Amino acid sequence: MTRPAKISINSNNIIQNCKLARQLHGGKLLAVVKANAYGHGDLLVARQLAEYVEGFAVACLEEAVVLREGGITHPIVLLEGPFSALEIPDYLHYQLTPVIHHIDQYAWWSEATSSQGIWLKFDTGMHRLGFQEKEINELFRNNKAQNSIRIDVLMTHFANADSIDPQLVHLPMERFKRVLSEMGIEGSIANSAAIMLHSQLRSNWARPGLMLYGVDPLGRAASEVGLKPVMKLTSEVIALRWIDVGESVGYGSTFTASQPTRVATIACGYADGYPRTAKNGTPVWINGKKLPLIGRVSMDMITVDVTQQADVQLGSQVELWGDNINVAEVAHCSGTLAYELLCHTHRPARINS
Ligand SMILES: Cc1ncc(COP(=O)(O)O)c(C=O)c1O
Repeated sequence: MTRPAKISINSNNIIQNCKLARQLHGGKLLAVVKANAYGHGDLLVARQLAEYVEGFAVACLEEAVVLREGGITHPIVLLEGPFSALEIPDYLHYQLTPVIHHIDQYAWWSEATSSQGIWLKFDTGMHRLGFQEKEINELFRNNKAQNSIRIDVLMTHFANADSIDPQLVHLPMERFKRVLSEMGIEGSIANSAAIMLHSQLRSNWARPGLMLYGVDPLGRAASEVGLKPVMKLTSEVIALRWIDVGESVGYGSTFTASQPTRVATIACGYADGYPRTAKNGTPVWINGKKLPLIGRVSMDMITVDVTQQADVQLGSQVELWGDNINVAEVAHCSGTLAYELLCHTHRPARINS
């Protein structure tokens, strides 16, 4: 018998979510598949989406090479661009598109090629990557005068696209429009939150990540916003016991029974990607019911109060997140975001459907 903790990926649902992104945004889609497609399997997701998107985005060369060598022929955009000049030959060899966000990268690229295109990153207010407004216009003009680099797309990334307050995206949007109109090239702004919340942020290319995986950036239930969950983390009950009033459960005794309590132990813990910081009360789905996590999450196990669910037995199926438990709710109970939970699932065996 193998360990029962498993990840299942519903690859059909990725396509449905992608179609929703297209419907909401229009324009071209650059599917964000960095970090192993947010834990879903980069090549699996890229192959599944190949006929539904115009390109893919990754964070680094290693991720891009996996896609190219796996047969993906679409444009692949590397969101942080080259980390050193030594990477440029691989960019050229694999026909990869860097996001150029600082002047050293610009110099490396202009020495290497004027024919292979780049995306230029504009810092509209996030202040993480990109050229500021005062430098980007000059860079673009000089570049044009010297016929130096082929700049295909101006892109930016917003700090507050997941806010429903339109004022928080207004100023960066105005900056972006001002600069883009000078350049007369294609633009790219929207991540999932922008696609789902701000129709005014439409541009030539959208860059959806999280929503492709069926997770709402605001944490709402997938069904409420037309998304379909893609990843399911499941396992089984491997032990059951009754404990008396006053007895505690797990490391550090963080849960103490105030009534006779039936405790189920599940084979899934933080080594499987389940968050160690999940609080007492985090919902776990067993036999058709949401039941509360009790006690601390261990490396390979969690404990759940199943007192109210008499039919729970050894071998009962458990969903940690998926169709019935929103991964965003587990994240919320753990002081983090769904992004982090999805990316951290390395160990469980994988089943793709
Ligand atoms: C530059 C950029 N664009 C798009 C995305 C996709 O964002 P989301 O997963 O929120 O759709 C990311 C993700 O981190 C990003 O860094």
